Parts: sequence; C-alpha cells; structure tokens
Amino acid sequence: MGPPDPILGVTEAFKRDTNPKKMNLGVGAYRDDQGKPFVLSCVRKAEALMTSKQLDKEYLPIGGFGEFTKACAQLALGADNEVLKSGRSVTVQTISGTGSLRIGGNYLARFHTGPHDVYLPKPSWGNHTPIFRDAGMQLKAYRYYDPSTCGFDFKGALDDISKIPEKSIIVLHACAHNPTGVDPRPEQWKEISDIVKKRNLLVFFDMAYQGFASGDIDRDAWAVRHFIETGHNIVLSQSFAKNMGLYAERVGGFTVVCKDAEEAKRVESQLKILIRPIYSNPPINGARIAATILNTPDLHSLWLEEVHGMANRIIKMREQLVAGLKQQGSSHNWQHVTDQIGMFCFTGLKPEQVERLTKEFSVYMTKDGRISMAGVTTANVGYLAEGIHAVTK
Ligand SMILES: Cc1ncc(COP(=O)(O)O)c(C=O)c1O
Repeated sequence: MGPPDPILGVTEAFKRDTNPKKMNLGVGAYRDDQGKPFVLSCVRKAEALMTSKQLDKEYLPIGGFGEFTKACAQLALGADNEVLKSGRSVTVQTISGTGSLRIGGNYLARFHTGPHDVYLPKPSWGNHTPIFRDAGMQLKAYRYYDPSTCGFDFKGALDDISKIPEKSIIVLHACAHNPTGVDPRPEQWKEISDIVKKRNLLVFFDMAYQGFASGDIDRDAWAVRHFIETGHNIVLSQSFAKNMGLYAERVGGFTVVCKDAEEAKRVESQLKILIRPIYSNPPINGARIAATILNTPDLHSLWLEEVHGMANRIIKMREQLVAGLKQQGSSHNWQHVTDQIGMFCFTGLKPEQVERLTKEFSVYMTKDGRISMAGVTTANVGYLAEGIHAVTK
C-alpha cells in the first residue's frame, strides 16, 4: 500500500470533520467569497457559444487544437513577440500544467545534451520532484526561501545558481511561486537571468498562475518575456486550471523556444513522436473553451476582468488576515502575508502549530505551514486570525 498524497490527504481529513467552522486551506483551488467553487462567466458564455454551434468531437491532432496552441503561446510571450513572428517556437496542447511538465521532462530526458540534472527552488511544488524523477531526470535544488524573513533568499539563490554545472536545467516559477508566494522583483529577475546565462543553463519556466499573482496577465509574464528578450531559448509549461478556473478540464501548453524556424519544426516532430504513445492526442473540450475565450474579443476582456477580480479578492483577504491578527493582539510581524503573492501564503507556522490549528480549530492545511488564501472569505477570515493567534502567542 502506498502512502496517500500529502495534499489530497488533507481534504480527506477535512471531509470527516464535523465542526461547522472547519476550513480547508490545503488545496489550491479558488473559492468565491461564499467559499464556493467559482466558474467564470466567460467560461459559461464560451460554453453556450460552443453548444450553439453543435460542434463535432473528432480526434484532435497529436499536438492539440491549433486555435488554442497559438493563443496559448501569444498569451505567455505577448502577441507581437519576435519568437512568434519568426516561427521559432513550437507549442503543443497538454494535459494541464502537470502534463506539460511531464512532456517537458520526457522531452529533456530524450534530447537534452547537457547533464540530466533538474534544479528546483527549495521548496518547490511537491509534484515537481516525482514528475521529473519519473521522466528519468535527477533532482537537485537551489536556495530560494528564507525562513528568517519569510521572503526571497536572493543572495542564497544567486550563490547556488552560480555553482550549477553548465548546461544543467533550472526550473523557475514564472510568478506566484508555489508553495511560498514569494517572487523575485524585476531587478532580481534580471540578475538571475544574467547568472543563468553565464552558467549556460536551460531554463524551464513553470507558469501555472499567469494573472493570479498581480491580476495582470502581462505583468505576471514579465520574467518569461525578459528571459526570452535576453537570449534564453526557454521551455515553458502553462496551465489554465487556475486563471480560467478550468481545473478538471485539464488545459495546458508546452512550448519550446528554438534557435530558428527549422529547429522548431524538428522539435515539433519529436514532441509528436513522444506524445503519441502516451495519450495519442489531447482532449478537446477545455481547449475549445480556452480558445473561445482567448480568441473572442468580448470574452477575452471579460476574462481579464474576472482574473483581476480573483487576484484582488485574494489580496484583500491577505490584508484582512493581517488586520485580524493585529486585532487579536498578535505581536508578530505578519508583513510577509501581504508581501507574498498569488494563491498561497507561507505563514511561517511550525508543524506543531499547524497540528494545533487543525486539532483545536479545524483549520486544515499542509504541514509546511502553507495556506491557500483562495479558501479564506470575509466570513471566516476573523476565525482564522483567532486560530493563528492562539497557536502562535
Ligand atoms: C507550480 C505549479 N505547477 C503546475 C501546477 C499544475 O497544475 P495543473 O496540472 O492542475 O494544471 C500547479 C498546480 O497546483 C502548480 O502549483
């Protein structure tokens, strides 16, 4: 018998709890201010449009739905990016972000000419390790989070990155780092880009939260675009689970930026050869929803508003949580709660404090002290502050 998944195991325990005040802050899925799963209106409208067209359900090509992959790459890189204009990239549709990372891992395991070592930030999303390990890569790490400030360990990161053997692979979270909510600032990204260039590393960007960090799609893609502008031929994973709320539709993209259009053609042919024996071709429904939204001007603008709304609600909850802790009389510095960005907050709570919070207050979260801010609402933020204060005073 294998062990249960650490995050999904939290949800199981939550379901068994009968306390009416219980909170599930383990899983990274957005909730509205009533604590309910949220389907974006642009998604509902896209679905209505699709239904009215009575579309068929024929197989997609191996690389996915062309209207989707084109829009997906444009969203990440910016429509007028030289890479797209010159055709020196390839994007395939994937089974959300996880599938994209795995196809990327398999692709690198087969073709990467440098060391098969993948450097992850410490800590990183829990699934990164098994994804790359199962793809046949070796996992290494670089310093990222500084527990003493609950912020970015810039010096530690630069120090470690400068020692990574040439041509290794480095994973960078494009924005809204999971689990810490700590992102480098643009000046820091610039230095990271320089040092990564000096070491001649291959950059694997994981962008699972575009729009979710700042509420602004372009701002959140800044690092990805900066790396490309400064000459990195990156590989990129994208997910539409969070920013379109399409969790179970499994919509994502994997992009390889190449040196020229010829190389992009060769890479595309190899990605198809890789994908065909895994799942043959990707599912159509979610990609159609995403493509309809991205390619229909009215729906696109509505989506941007809705992403902004989700990000803003989370930012507001961060502020209210800190205000609540002050109101409770907490003397700790909680500034990191508002400094951090995106769906998650790395509270700094120790495992024994997390355990008490769960036992005494029925607040469920992962043992590392990470809470999903998306599960916090106007109605329960006060209760959460009370619980956190009780276990940290
Ligand atoms: C950093 C990171 N990458 C990738 C993913 C992939 O998620 P999905 O497969 O649902 O798109 C997630 C989801 O939690 C994530 O946090």
